Amino acid sequence: MPSLVINSSKKQYEILIENGLLDHLESHLDPAVFYIMIADDQIPDIYLNQIAVATPNHIIIRFPAGEPNKSVSTFNHIINQLIVHNVQKDACILAVGGGVTGDLSGFVASVYMRGIPYIHIPTTLLAQIDSSVGGKVAINYEQAKNIIGAIYPPQKVFIDPITLKTLSPRHLMNGMGEMIKYGMIADESLFNRILTEDVFTNLESFIASALLIKKHFVETDEFDCGIRQQLNFGHTIGHALEAYFGYQKYLHGEAVAIGMVAAVTDPQIKETLVKCLQKYHLPTENPVAINKLKPFLQHDKKQMRIVTVAKIGYAEIIPSPF
Ligand SMILES: NC(=O)c1ccc[n+]([C@@H]2O[C@H](COP(=O)([O-])OP(=O)(O)OC[C@H]3O[C@@H](n4cnc5c(N)ncnc54)[C@H](O)[C@@H]3O)[C@@H](O)[C@H]2O)c1
Repeated sequence: MPSLVINSSKKQYEILIENGLLDHLESHLDPAVFYIMIADDQIPDIYLNQIAVATPNHIIIRFPAGEPNKSVSTFNHIINQLIVHNVQKDACILAVGGGVTGDLSGFVASVYMRGIPYIHIPTTLLAQIDSSVGGKVAINYEQAKNIIGAIYPPQKVFIDPITLKTLSPRHLMNGMGEMIKYGMIADESLFNRILTEDVFTNLESFIASALLIKKHFVETDEFDCGIRQQLNFGHTIGHALEAYFGYQKYLHGEAVAIGMVAAVTDPQIKETLVKCLQKYHLPTENPVAINKLKPFLQHDKKQMRIVTVAKIGYAEIIPSPF
């Protein structure tokens, strides 16, 4: 079973990656602990039932799926449930689902009784390779995305790639946008494997390779002041496109795919990147003129810089051409 340890300033935590891991969580969870499973209403019951076998003492809190529900009102609903069930500091939250559930549950854990433990059990590819690691937790406030949040690392992360079998093809490809980004910014050989191999027959290994890259960035720059910003490759235009369309048209990884193509200037690299994105049915053309996106660009206002790739596997931060 591939496993990784992440070192953060608050704690060290382990990530386990294994096909079928949810079938034997008993060896990784404490039957004496009171667990609170938090999941949206689209997560198949089968995963919650598997986890229930290993947690004799648990409750389940569900909320409506989707980015608009990463909200203050869902946060209030969950806090209310924790109080109703008299949840104490020695309980532990299990965040079962995609990045929305992980960000929301992690934020609840960070503030309830000034902080209780939580474990990520990510079930989308995006959450398995990205959002479950690094400790960024948040909710949205009206249209402001991730504006209320914290850096609050989980106790553990349990990744079972088999859960991806029930994920919609569109959400699976959405995660591939972020996986391609890792190859582009930090690992040419991972990029070439994504381009030439069948990722889905060997997901365990691809997830582990992607997480090794995320580990490097979050350990080197936990608080996002320097090198971690390279993870934003494709995000300047990507975020602007998501916001321009009111978060209705593109999933995050799709918008990042378009943003990566826009952020590369070398024609050969652009061509190779487009080929790779097209292999995973991701969009590559920006349908909106840059001047229309300008109001949505989230540059660092003083620096106006973006991340680009001039050689596959190496990112650099340059003055923004947008
Ligand atoms: N914290 C971070 O570092 C970080 C990084 C990247 C993205 N994010 C956040 O992640 C969120 C997006 O996450 P996402 O793409 O996982 O979306 P999501 O959490 O909305 O999940 C997508 C959909 O897939 C369903 N689903 C999840 N697992 C499933 C499974 N195994 N089978 C069937 N259906 C399943 C969900 O119910 C949901 O409807 C955004 O809010 C973004 O801001 C956070």
